[in-house]
Amino acid sequence: MGNEKIKNLENKLKTLWKHREKRFGVGDLKFLYEKAQNKKVIVEMGVSQGFSTLTILVALEHAGGHLWSIDYNRKACKEAVKTVKEWGLEKNWTFIVEDVIAYSRSWKKDKMIDFIYIDLSANFKREWWGDLFKAWVPYLKQNGEILIHAAKAHFKKGVGFVKGPNFEIRNIRFDRWDNCLITKTGPSSAKEFSDVIPGVS
Ligand SMILES: C[S@@+](CC[C@H](N)C(=O)[O-])C[C@H]1O[C@@H](n2cnc3c(N)ncnc32)[C@H](O)[C@@H]1O
Repeated sequence: MGNEKIKNLENKLKTLWKHREKRFGVGDLKFLYEKAQNKKVIVEMGVSQGFSTLTILVALEHAGGHLWSIDYNRKACKEAVKTVKEWGLEKNWTFIVEDVIAYSRSWKKDKMIDFIYIDLSANFKREWWGDLFKAWVPYLKQNGEILIHAAKAHFKKGVGFVKGPNFEIRNIRFDRWDNCLITKTGPSSAKEFSDVIPGVS
């Protein structure tokens, strides 16, 4: 894609980010924009207004790649779907209206993921995270990354919940954000979570 077109999209993105700048800042989205570039297979959990969706899709314009976004609330994502089309980004996008754990059962077994971005509402209960990891981590490539947005809102006691021999966890703070970046460092399955997440067997 030409530089001009990317510049245009980046300007649109900056205007979009302004809508949440006052309330939340944009440091987390800038970081996401950098992270998503050069990734080929990205899965996003939680679309809603689409701030992160559009950020990832514009990032993918740099080197190609595809984003699968999952959200079970079609109505809440109406604006995001509209904007993706308006910006001409739908060719690299698959939108799935389903529960994030249920959809893992439809994921192609040999399609390995580079990057998973998770931004689920606070009503995604703590005890479901084990199932989420069990469902998706096997599809994450070695050195693949999971970025959990505002992890603190979900894990009030911190993010020591996913320590394992094949994971490296870094806590990244942007002002008011408490995002958690997890890197898969070995050929693990989700089994290793069983020791550290209550309710996972
Ligand atoms: C905070 S919003 C996402 C915001 C979005 N990432 C952004 O940057 O604009 C959380 C979304 O997660 C979705 N969600 C929550 N639990 C879910 C689940 N179990 N499966 C699928 N979507 C879920 C909600 O419908 C909601 O739209």
